[in-house]
Amino acid sequence: MFPDGKRIADEAVYLDKNRSSLEPKEAFKLLGNLIRKAQHTKSASLLDVGCATGELLLYFKNNLPGFNYFEGIDVLNTLINQARKQVPDVEFRIGSALDTKYFLQRRFDVVVCCGTVQIFDDLRLPLENFLSCARKNASILICSPFNEEPIDVITRYRRSESAASDWELGWNIFSCKTVDYILEQSGYNLSWSWHPFDMPFAIPKRNDPMRTWTIKTEEKPFQTINGASQLINMKVVHIRVNGLPE
Ligand SMILES: C[S@@+](CC[C@H](N)C(=O)[O-])C[C@H]1O[C@@H](n2cnc3c(N)ncnc32)[C@H](O)[C@@H]1O
Repeated sequence: MFPDGKRIADEAVYLDKNRSSLEPKEAFKLLGNLIRKAQHTKSASLLDVGCATGELLLYFKNNLPGFNYFEGIDVLNTLINQARKQVPDVEFRIGSALDTKYFLQRRFDVVVCCGTVQIFDDLRLPLENFLSCARKNASILICSPFNEEPIDVITRYRRSESAASDWELGWNIFSCKTVDYILEQSGYNLSWSWHPFDMPFAIPKRNDPMRTWTIKTEEKPFQTINGASQLINMKVVHIRVNGLPE
């Protein structure tokens, strides 16, 4: 039977005391550039779904001056508690990308979701939720591994040092075509663009083999891979909401 999966590494990664000295992720810079180019009106609001301890929101607070309201949600209360301490003047809530009620009650000019949709086995519900809280002219930016081939991949992996360990999730790879299809069927007036994101420098292998590292290939100097033998090719899909359904 296809096993249910768990996330077990997020607290170890995001509550690590040495994290505060890290540079902002390259993906955050790409997301910030795309949001700046989209030229949202002054006093815009932004939601980060799967915000962990608020690192992306801290980066945006310092780098997106036109925005006057930031909110972050994450399922883990330990991460949200840390986010509240770490990033002042941001509204943090414990919540799920899959909770339709939460999204229906809110409106944002920008919704960002970085490194999180690959946890879900179905992309349709989170995408519909992000759309349901979008204002007219909003941007939705999703950063994840996406497959240029028309193939969706569901992944479960397990640490083989203990046969009894849980199956974990977080490395599903949906095809760009699946995203295109869901957006075309959404009932919203949308336009969207794809932005490949390649690492500009090497990342060494770390203790946890499911944290990505880079290798040199014929095509890329810094190809990201993980310990499940997957090539990880991140992309951002930037969706513009030109019109809401009647
Ligand atoms: C790989 S981390 C990415 C964190 C952050 N966005 C970043 O880019 O550094 C995935 C995050 O998604 C959160 N998460 C897992 N399931 C979720 C759900 N159903 N709704 C919202 N967040 C979720 C995890 O707790 C974790 O903080």
